[in-house]
Amino acid sequence: MALLEILKFPDPRLRIKAQPINEIDVELRRMVDDMYETMYASHGVGLAATQVNIHRQIFTMDVSETRDQGICVLNPEIIHQEGIQYEAEGCLSVGGGTYDKVERALKVRLKGMDLDGKIFELDAENLMAVCIQHEIDHLNGVLFIDHLSRLKQMRIRKKIEKLDRRE
Ligand code: NI
Repeated sequence: MALLEILKFPDPRLRIKAQPINEIDVELRRMVDDMYETMYASHGVGLAATQVNIHRQIFTMDVSETRDQGICVLNPEIIHQEGIQYEAEGCLSVGGGTYDKVERALKVRLKGMDLDGKIFELDAENLMAVCIQHEIDHLNGVLFIDHLSRLKQMRIRKKIEKLDRRE
């Protein structure tokens, strides 16, 4: 396994739309192992392939406190959603200690494929529902900060540019 480099905003590669998975092979499984390792090492609750410069429809997630309930979803799709929640989010690809509240569906039904090629559905709410919506956004080239006001986005961009210059 290997740790992968996480792309950071404003890297334009975070805007690339991920392609669907048609075949599960050894290489794909190895990629997923690396994604898990990278997610756990970075203490993230979720990681989309886009964030590690792999433009395929894959994300890993683990919202458990014990960090041993990881799941991997291929070709994820939200087929039902209801309610509204408004919770603070952060992202491994958005530095500068950026956290802000984003409006999301409270509950979602996720449809996806597992690593055995089996199609499954999963009902999620609260944090897990946020995570699913956040990761699917990544696969579409969307970051959580895109949901904030223009003014907030401008402030975040300036703060991050300033930090990057200092490095
Ligand atoms: Ni993220």
